[in-house]
Amino acid sequence: MFSLEGKIAIVTGGGSGIGKAISILFARQGADVHIIELNADAAEETVIEIQKNNGKAYAHGCDVSNQNQVLDIFYQIGAADILVNNAGIAHIGKADTTSEEDFDKVFAVNVKGAYNTLFAAIPFLKKSESPVILNMASIAAVVGIADRFAYSMSKGAIYAMTMSVARDYLEDGIRCNSISPARVHTPFVDGFIAKNYAGQEEEVFARLSQSQPIGRMGKPEEVAALALYLCAEESGFITGNDYPIDGGFIKLNN
Ligand SMILES: NC(=O)c1ccc[n+]([C@@H]2O[C@H](COP(=O)([O-])OP(=O)(O)OC[C@H]3O[C@@H](n4cnc5c(N)ncnc54)[C@H](O)[C@@H]3O)[C@@H](O)[C@H]2O)c1
Repeated sequence: MFSLEGKIAIVTGGGSGIGKAISILFARQGADVHIIELNADAAEETVIEIQKNNGKAYAHGCDVSNQNQVLDIFYQIGAADILVNNAGIAHIGKADTTSEEDFDKVFAVNVKGAYNTLFAAIPFLKKSESPVILNMASIAAVVGIADRFAYSMSKGAIYAMTMSVARDYLEDGIRCNSISPARVHTPFVDGFIAKNYAGQEEEVFARLSQSQPIGRMGKPEEVAALALYLCAEESGFITGNDYPIDGGFIKLNN
């Protein structure tokens, strides 16, 4: 079950965290994995790790917010069966504490970045026998999370983008779903704790762990396992849905 043998999978942000775990698992299941990453060195490290285990992977340095760069990379790859829109950046702030520059940056990467890869990938996906798109949303799309104004809005856009794309490409056989994780322990989380709560790292880490009723953060490998299911042919009846993976965050808090 869950073989990706012979499939070409494109994963954005595969140099770190959730995208790295997805890239490693998809390659282990037989896919040719193409990592599209701003941090080309990190993408190369993931590729080396995959190749050590006899997997097939390729690193492409690219800023997903730049449409020309994205189109160039897809033109070089020349085919796609699976697109995982995972690259994203975090931001802390409320409406009146989010600068215009930060607002634009979050939307350029998290929203326009996903549109850019869709724009580039869909002509190739239309030629695939079992095409599938998976977007990385967040529980922030549907639950009010304090101090995450721009980030939550960007993930709400990913949620809506998933439904829109799922409907528009039904006739082309392209399935499209999203995953909404609660807190997952990745460099993304460590990075924003270090940046925003210097000196209180341990306390904030414990608080963020407890905000999941299950009492801990998720692991990138747990999200990757759900991603594998949603991109494998075994989930062929699933499209136009969002899947929380949240330690009970949405339904069991309170
Ligand atoms: N970690 C969490 O708690 C959590 C929770 C919910 C949703 N998510 C979402 O999951 C996704 C992955 O998160 P993560 O925690 O693994 O993050 P991460 O920071 O560990 O990895 C994200 C990767 O995306 C890359 N990236 C950033 N901007 C890019 C750009 N412009 N072009 C190409 N690549 C770019 C980074 O270089 C990095 O390697 C994000 O979309 C995030 O919003 C994460």
